[in-house]
Amino acid sequence: MIKKIFTIIVLITSSLLAQTVRYKPLIKVEQNQSSNFTNKSIERKIDSILSKMTLKEKVGQLVQIVGEPEYLENLIKEGGVGSILIGTGIPGEVNRLQKIAMESGLKIPLVFAHDVIHGYYTIYPIPLGEAASWNPDIVKKDAHLAAMEAASQGTKWTFAPMVDIARDPRWGRIMEGAGEDPFLGSIMAAARVEGFQGDDLKDPYSIAACAKHFVAYGAAQAGREYNTVDISERTLREIYLPPFKSAVDAGVATIMSAFNDLNGIPASANYHTLTEILKDKWKFKGLVVSDYNSIGELVRHGIAKDKYEAAGEAFLAGVDVDMVGNRNIGDVYSPNLEKLVINGEVSIDKINQSVKRVLRVKFKLDLFEHPYTDTTFYKTYLISKEERENIVRKSADESIVLLKNTNNILPIKKDIGSIALIGPLANDQKDLIGGWSCAGNPDNAVTVLKGISNKVSSNTRINYVQGCNINDSVETGFEKAVSSAKKSDLVILVVGESRKMSGEASSRVNLDLPGVQEKLVEKIYGLGKPTVVILMNGRPLTINWISENVPAVLETWFLGDQAGNAIADVLFGDYNPSGKLPVTFPRSVGQIPIFYNHKNTGRPAEPNDKFTSKYIDSPVTPLYPFGYGLSYTTFNYKNIRIDKSKISKNDSLTVSIDVTNNGNLEGDEVVQLYIHDRVRSITPPVKELKGFKKIHLNTGESKTVKFKITPGMLSFLNKNLQPVIEPGIFDIMIGGNSVDLLLTSFEVEK
Ligand code: GLC
Repeated sequence: MIKKIFTIIVLITSSLLAQTVRYKPLIKVEQNQSSNFTNKSIERKIDSILSKMTLKEKVGQLVQIVGEPEYLENLIKEGGVGSILIGTGIPGEVNRLQKIAMESGLKIPLVFAHDVIHGYYTIYPIPLGEAASWNPDIVKKDAHLAAMEAASQGTKWTFAPMVDIARDPRWGRIMEGAGEDPFLGSIMAAARVEGFQGDDLKDPYSIAACAKHFVAYGAAQAGREYNTVDISERTLREIYLPPFKSAVDAGVATIMSAFNDLNGIPASANYHTLTEILKDKWKFKGLVVSDYNSIGELVRHGIAKDKYEAAGEAFLAGVDVDMVGNRNIGDVYSPNLEKLVINGEVSIDKINQSVKRVLRVKFKLDLFEHPYTDTTFYKTYLISKEERENIVRKSADESIVLLKNTNNILPIKKDIGSIALIGPLANDQKDLIGGWSCAGNPDNAVTVLKGISNKVSSNTRINYVQGCNINDSVETGFEKAVSSAKKSDLVILVVGESRKMSGEASSRVNLDLPGVQEKLVEKIYGLGKPTVVILMNGRPLTINWISENVPAVLETWFLGDQAGNAIADVLFGDYNPSGKLPVTFPRSVGQIPIFYNHKNTGRPAEPNDKFTSKYIDSPVTPLYPFGYGLSYTTFNYKNIRIDKSKISKNDSLTVSIDVTNNGNLEGDEVVQLYIHDRVRSITPPVKELKGFKKIHLNTGESKTVKFKITPGMLSFLNKNLQPVIEPGIFDIMIGGNSVDLLLTSFEVEK
């Protein structure tokens, strides 16, 4: 009886605990006290194991196999593999393979990895959409939920977060990151690392994160996938490295080296970035894994004549683990590293350093003490289905960006008589969950049709017609769409890309809506009904006609399982949209690269002066700027002020601004802080995001928002690429996007 009472007490306590600490597993797998070891004890254990390992076993730890080739079991028995990029949802298989490892040789556990990018089973918005929430807390919660689900299936390492800055929306992988800005990208990188890794990697439901792709993959020339990157050291350090530094500072356990050539030396063989910056300067102690056969591809890059040379160049540059394909296309580190050591081209000390990094991650994951997965976890899921859905629905709500709402056509009344719901993505499930959706099941996705049906009154008629496919060349479905619109009070069109049109190997030269979708919108809009367009896409699109003509436009990215419910929350006013664009929307591909933190040039664009920096066939401004997003209410900014007009280089000051909700709906607002150094020894960007705060204001409520301006926010890299603060006048700009800003200034004295 006592046991029973005890159990009940534990559950009650745990459930109370769950309410306060949230997202922690209610019932921890029995923690073996010896797993609470300190770093010193980890290092001692690593040294002890290392001293017993053969060269073959050491190289084995530096090899990752993708999938389950037929030779895998023997390879594990021989200690020839250290990690496996495994399928999803197979804890039994994970435990079977782990058992082979734990009963072989030195009993070194395997670590199983997968691409858990925006959810494992429960899918939340694609990372670019999630970044539009400008809410790191919600991003962290999403990642923690994904980690719990992944860990429950034996996946203890995710190849996420992708932290590549992307200024070119032709590049399909822009959907995987946090957009164009180093500051926002750094905040999101840290949130995702902390979410995946939890408070301690040894927690049963924490997984090792992997900041990727190191580095500057997003700067691929012409936005063409896997293309050459050639940027200045300054741009590398000011734009592309900061999110990785943020991930390292957040304690990321692993880093993935990229495919791309970087200034003539491929990222997976670049000693300057991998060792001089990452390992020496930043003191990164985790492991570096290559991208899929990116070491083997050094031969195609033309810097290695064969896999033997490729192995030596990558390893000596700082890549610890070779992610190889199970089609044997990447058997690079094994067997070549052994040969390199025997030939005296690679020192055993260097091998030992890399093996230590691998063993260190495995110890931090507590795999030596707990190599197996509790396969019952998922059946006794510790976070209810409803709570999982609420987590991802909240992040979906906050990821939606209201681009336009002329005459306040939105929100729609729930008892509206009839709605025409039209478009290839209106009743779609498979695309809603976006690319890189891991073990997500499209059948779980709530469609827009379902979400609206869940929301409107029982008397509301929904006249749904697909109208066309995403990439049609024919307009045969238009007629039905027209008749649906004609008999309805309001029209909602759901258009965009398929999930396969963004993500890896999905660059586009054209950013218009695919197929005949824009013609469908034009046709329907021409009927004169109140019209709303909902976009679903993995990148900015050049939706000029829609932006010009349609009164209401929502950017919804690919929102995941709860897409339909979240879109309905916003359409009908149960959530007042608060999303802000993490990336600039160009008017045309011809403007790319276009980003907000650009330089002024010596001839900044002047409408009335031909001889200034602009185009003769297009405005120089974007369609929608970075940081932009509307609300159903209006937020009034006034009274920007600072507490000091002059400071020394090491001093700080506080800037304040009053924000008032003077509309008739409560809402969230992302108050953004930009700084412009007017004159310095290196040309300054016209502005740079240096802070933001997401606040909630009830109708009529005002809040004073304060930002502390610290020396770190004022420094830049001088001509010797050294961080400095130079005296002079600095502008501080604050507002709800990167264009409509209030300004004040202060001076840094000599
Ligand atoms: C892919 C991607 C990388 C991913 C890896 C394993 O090619 O570039 O982001 O983690 O292979 O799937």
